[in-house]
Amino acid sequence: MDGQLLLVLLLLLLGASGPEGQGPGPGEPEEEPPKEEIPEEDGILVLSRRNLGLALREHRTLLVQFYAPWCGHCKALAPEYSKAAALLAAESAKARLAKVDGPAEAELTEEFAVTTYPTLKFFRDGNRTHPEEYTGPREAEGIAEWLRRRAGPSATRLEDEDGAQALIDGRDVVVIGFFQDLQDEDVATFLALAQDALDMTFGLTDQPKLFQKFGLTKDTVVLFKKFDEGRADFPVDEELGLDQGDLSHFLLTHSMRLVTEFNSQTSPKIFSAGILNHLLLFVNQTLASHRELLAGFGEAAPPFRGQVLFVVVDVGADNGHVLRYFGLKAEEAPTLRFINMETTKKYAPAHGGPLTATSVTAFCHAVLGGEVKPYLLSQELPPDWDQRPVKTLVGKNFEQVAFDETKNVFIKFYAPWCTHCKEMAAAWEALADKYKDHEDIIIAELDATANELEAFPVHGFPTLKFFPAGPGRKVIEYKSTRDLETFSKFLDSGGELPAEEPAEEPAAPFPETPANSTTEPKEEL
Ligand SMILES: *[C@@H]1O[C@H](CO)[C@@H](O)[C@H](O)[C@H]1NC(C)=O
Ligand SMILES: *[C@@H]1O[C@H](CO)[C@@H](O)[C@H](O)[C@H]1NC(C)=O
Ligand SMILES: *[C@@H]1O[C@H](CO)[C@@H](O)[C@H](O)[C@H]1NC(C)=O
Repeated sequence: MDGQLLLVLLLLLLGASGPEGQGPGPGEPEEEPPKEEIPEEDGILVLSRRNLGLALREHRTLLVQFYAPWCGHCKALAPEYSKAAALLAAESAKARLAKVDGPAEAELTEEFAVTTYPTLKFFRDGNRTHPEEYTGPREAEGIAEWLRRRAGPSATRLEDEDGAQALIDGRDVVVIGFFQDLQDEDVATFLALAQDALDMTFGLTDQPKLFQKFGLTKDTVVLFKKFDEGRADFPVDEELGLDQGDLSHFLLTHSMRLVTEFNSQTSPKIFSAGILNHLLLFVNQTLASHRELLAGFGEAAPPFRGQVLFVVVDVGADNGHVLRYFGLKAEEAPTLRFINMETTKKYAPAHGGPLTATSVTAFCHAVLGGEVKPYLLSQELPPDWDQRPVKTLVGKNFEQVAFDETKNVFIKFYAPWCTHCKEMAAAWEALADKYKDHEDIIIAELDATANELEAFPVHGFPTLKFFPAGPGRKVIEYKSTRDLETFSKFLDSGGELPAEEPAEEPAAPFPETPANSTTEPKEEL
């Protein structure tokens, strides 16, 4: 290495051109420093402030990960990142992957305004000032596909029927843009969308014979699918052009099946489909009588496409969390539930009546028309709810106990999984024990994940609220230290705390943020 470097320096000094392929190429600046090897680890370029410029000149499509040695998410990403690099190298793709040790390269983290780890930025054509923020997948195949769609064209150019048919046959969902003029702005919009819609395959054509074969006369984006309607057309608006947001929504909506089975593979798509209303049919798939209901359910779906997502939940599969969320038991299947994902309001059909296409349609219309009242979750009231010092509240007895005008009621709203709630459990028991002989004081708790309240929603856990005796439904939120001494002072003063009492951290939001999240404050870089 050293010898070679010396030789290059010598040749430069003498004004001679370097060896083949190593000297400055035509059009490149004269003062180009001698070629330096960029170190690699596991197929990943290791960059620093010294060699970033060189890497950008050498690699026209470059993904750079800023990591920190202590960052857990970076460690999880590392093997996938290397695997993606290997996948791309195996197919001789032009895209390269690189990494920068953020804490060791303060100049670079400042230049690229890196505030969290890992941060990934994509550099194209050596443009150092305007990298694209990477928001793609975090597993190998996804990372590689994201880069392939930037290094090469994001849509396959189709010239003839055979090519088009092969593309359509190859995947469940294939999107083809038919454009009369490939120089049109709409084509750029289409290709930009194709760069990010990694779960669909894209094709592109301007061939009149292909327009003809698919019965088109105007610019149109067509989604071909191997299920349901088989095809959906999105005509390009001749005056307004192609709107990327509208097309994206169209593709998302029409690439979903009319009826989606809920499982770990489909749930991300169900939640990201951008359709706020979901109608769920809970069935036990092992029972023929339940399976027969699927036909009527599917029959009701087409008119609601884009407005209500139809989902089947098998109560026999690993779907306990869905049942709990809706406050359902497996024995209650077959049954329907409707949810608006934005308001999280849940609706149940009135009891009785068979589940047919007609009844499903009527239930949907009734909910959308505002004719059905949402229901609130509540556990059953345990018979011994008031037998222990800490009283047990559920949705059904909450109003009656909390707003009892003769009592001062102090309630802990908790979640079974919340660690802060577990930490304060002993202090809460001790408090209840201390005041168990005070007729007018009630210490209680309510599992807010299983009991929803009409009075107010509970978002953080634990939430502590005090309901003083007297009229007017007064509620005082307790935000101080969670120990027996401070709780007692608060109760003794009728819901007030001395001003010098230190305020504690707010309750953990839902879900609890992990100790080391990806968002590390800038000071910790
Ligand atoms: C980098 O990209 C931006 C945005 O596309 C552009 O305005 C700028 O001129 C480019 N810089 C160079 C050096 O090419
Ligand atoms: C589904 O039905 C089968 C057959 O009756 C029954 O054995 C099973 O327990 C049911 N599954 C659930 C979760 O209820
Ligand atoms: C969290 O990050 C700190 C450095 O900021 C590190 O010392 C600590 O070990 C990490 N904790 C976990 C649980 O990863």
